[in-house]
Amino acid sequence: MQPKFLTLDGIDGAGKTTQLNVIRAWFEARGLPVLFTREPGGTPLGERLREILLAPETQVSLRTETLMMFAARCQHLEDVILPALKNGVNVVSDRFTDATFAYQGGGRGLPDADIAVLERWVQGSLKPDLTILLDVPLEVSLARIESSREKDRFEQEQADFFRRVRDVYLQRAAAAPERYVVVNSNREKADVKVEIETVLDKLFQAA
Ligand code: TMP
Repeated sequence: MQPKFLTLDGIDGAGKTTQLNVIRAWFEARGLPVLFTREPGGTPLGERLREILLAPETQVSLRTETLMMFAARCQHLEDVILPALKNGVNVVSDRFTDATFAYQGGGRGLPDADIAVLERWVQGSLKPDLTILLDVPLEVSLARIESSREKDRFEQEQADFFRRVRDVYLQRAAAAPERYVVVNSNREKADVKVEIETVLDKLFQAA
């Protein structure tokens, strides 16, 4: 069976952490080889870049921020994601390039075409086999962010920023339904869990 590259994405407060645990348990129960990783991060360099990118005191231009996301991603692909896939290990990444289109593109206004150039340069033709987009209404996201103790540099943004981020995620999913599953995460956790498990069952059945 060809290993799969899955990504989990969505606005802050959409419940990624809970559902990553569901995905982890699904793979464990089936004894399938899998590597969990995250962006920005996933390598020693990427984790250092993450620290800088999320630190509230960091002052960085939009283009530099975007390059830093892709610098972390480039190292992540070369050192972690591609070797794992080559060795037959499935990869689940907590965020990937959709987040750049959503946050730097939608949230901050960088043109899509600029992001697409970097995507092509860093990834070639590689795209996730499937992206699970966890979606919650804007108010739910904002309330969850509000309740977090220390807000990172992105979480300090205003409601309009997150509205644009969410809109881009949903637009991207609507434009390529074969690569995305949008999961309404504003429900009982147990119901979301069943839906995610069904998505994984289907993906791996089809393989
Ligand atoms: P999280 O992984 O805890 O959700 O935090 C990562 C933050 O970084 C989140 O607010 C989204 C943001 N981000 C971007 O702005 N662009 C990107 O390309 C990625 C991967 C994350």
